[in-house]
Amino acid sequence: MIKDFNFYAPTRVVFGRESEKKIGELVASCGAKKVLIHYGGGSAQRSGLLDVVREQLRAAGIAFCELGGVVPNPLLSKVREGIELCRREGVDFILAVGGGSVIDSSKAIGYGVPYDGDVWDFWAGKAVPKQCLPIGVVLTIPAAGSEMSSSCVITADEGLLKRGINSDLCRCRFAVMNPERTFTLPPYQTAAGATDIMMHTMERYFSKYEDMTLTDSISEALLRTVKESALVVMRQPEDYRHRAQIMWAGSLAHNDLTECGTEKDFATHRLEHELSALFGVTHGAGLAAIWPSWARYVKDKHLSRFVQFAVNVMGVPNDFSHPDETAECGICAIEEFYHQIGMPTNIHELLGRDITDQEIDTMVDKCSRGGTITLGAMEVLDAQAMRDIYLKAR
Ligand code: NZQ
Ligand code: ZN
Repeated sequence: MIKDFNFYAPTRVVFGRESEKKIGELVASCGAKKVLIHYGGGSAQRSGLLDVVREQLRAAGIAFCELGGVVPNPLLSKVREGIELCRREGVDFILAVGGGSVIDSSKAIGYGVPYDGDVWDFWAGKAVPKQCLPIGVVLTIPAAGSEMSSSCVITADEGLLKRGINSDLCRCRFAVMNPERTFTLPPYQTAAGATDIMMHTMERYFSKYEDMTLTDSISEALLRTVKESALVVMRQPEDYRHRAQIMWAGSLAHNDLTECGTEKDFATHRLEHELSALFGVTHGAGLAAIWPSWARYVKDKHLSRFVQFAVNVMGVPNDFSHPDETAECGICAIEEFYHQIGMPTNIHELLGRDITDQEIDTMVDKCSRGGTITLGAMEVLDAQAMRDIYLKAR
């Protein structure tokens, strides 16, 4: 079966070595009068990128103010600070300079500025966004894919609740992507980014809708490319060609292209969000720690898909008489890949210690909203299944 779909990817992508030279022109073309430059903990300052951005806006005659300090797994408190600043300064456009955390913080500020109530209402399910300030991106890390996605993931400081919402209103007007800007990424962030990109594709590839072979082929090519390029850039961080492949894959993996005709599962993502909320771990690393256990939990019911993944993505020889073994070899092969790039394959490796029963209880409770919701689509997981997977992954 092929699932009906409604594909919408309105973000202009300006890609390449000289792409920053277009920032002023791009912001001006959006009609911006006052811009908030939003950034993270210092990498964009250290690399000189922020200076380039400021120069670009000055040359285009566009006024701006700035707010830095976004942390990975971005916090609601910073969003509130941004909303206040934008209202005070009359900001009408937000320019995110960074990765998924900065982009999501920008999207949340964009939702909050025109909204009369408390911005967390959107994540608490009490309100649906009706407006968002326009957002542009200068991307510095390929990973979350937020530059082309409809999603915005924020952590409430109190209670460490990490939640995502989706709306086309927050889709970025443009994304400036210069692969050279990713040369400075620490190896761990490079690896976690590649893992996240692959997982955005895998969470759509492992679907009960198996007939859209065009989408399957796109997904398989994307997965093989990111896997191969990640291995290269771990050794040669300044390899432009492979950095470029990863960067473009990051956007395609999460702009819904690989969901055309299939269905989003995202159970691994939801299970991971509890890990990064509770322990502050890097999102991609948390995904690597969960996926093998999710895969082993569901694979027997979806063997053909796991065999296809093993053979077409991981290069495992197809043992036609033992599909279960071929499927298992595919999971082992990705675990080996994770280890090669310095990613964990379970929670102990992720945290460097055992997780306690109480911590698992907390994660299950938050993830299942007290046992009231399920996760996943290819295989629907209730609270007991979530617990089983966390236990398998511990
Ligand atoms: O803060 P700075 O100093 O800039 O350092 C960052 C940060 O420490 C660093 N970094 C970024 N670019 C760099 C660099 N260091 C050196 N050179 C560069 N060029 O990398 C670290 C991680 O940055 P972050 O923005 O947190 O990474 P990522 O893009 O992985 O974003 C992660 C967040 O996005 C969410 C995740 O849950 C997490 O909160 N996600 C958002 C999604 C979406 N909106 O569509 C989907 C994803 O599934 C994900 O959930
Ligand atoms: Zn992700």
